[in-house]
Amino acid sequence: MLTPTQIAFFKHHGYLILSGAVAPAVIDVWRESFWEAVDAKADDPESWRKRPGLKAEYKLRHEEAGLNRQPAVAEAVEQLGGGWFVGDAGPPLVHWPAGCDAWTPTRLGHVDGYPPSFWFPFMMAATAYAYDVEPMGGAFTYWPESHHSTHRRFLANPGMIDGKWAREPGFDWTGPDNFTDLAPHPPREFTARAGDVILWHAFLVHSGSMNIRNSPRVGFFSRFWHRDQEAIKYDVPKDLWKYWAA
Ligand SMILES: [Fe+2]
Repeated sequence: MLTPTQIAFFKHHGYLILSGAVAPAVIDVWRESFWEAVDAKADDPESWRKRPGLKAEYKLRHEEAGLNRQPAVAEAVEQLGGGWFVGDAGPPLVHWPAGCDAWTPTRLGHVDGYPPSFWFPFMMAATAYAYDVEPMGGAFTYWPESHHSTHRRFLANPGMIDGKWAREPGFDWTGPDNFTDLAPHPPREFTARAGDVILWHAFLVHSGSMNIRNSPRVGFFSRFWHRDQEAIKYDVPKDLWKYWAA
């Protein structure tokens, strides 16, 4: 169960870190499934020197190992959404070592849900790693409290919520509509142990980052949407927490 302090932190900062939230046995399943999917071996860097992609048919070896199914995550989401949020478990996103020493910090973030071809509204997400991630190790990078600045932008321009702007010819993700310029704080790397989880609001500006360490950043992501999403998706409520329970 999240404490009132944790809930208040999530609402204020747009994210919450749950340390050690994933059991070691589940992390083992993530690792096995990942190396199987890229057809390489963790202890043989030569086997992943060419930065292999995931096989198309990627599947976790055990469905119950999905990040969304981990008790600490499921309970937190249940609590925040009052039972209205439902999620899935995406394939791992890997940032292979860049093979150089110069690290370039991430300056450009985005909000999820607006790829060029469609719109997928959701409420919140969770991210965790299969291996520890050090600074400059390809961490999930987020702009604290930017869920408020994104919200203000949508409130001022409610027609933007469906993401048509991202499908306009000539739309440039590096331009002002990536929401990064409005974020009140500089970005922060989610450096963490394997199995630590960061929960984040759907409006939180975030990005991947460069990995100059020796091991791949293997990230697992789950997104959670509202069961009544179709009915509410065009609403940009003045109260950011209108559809939340906590
Ligand atoms: Fe993203």
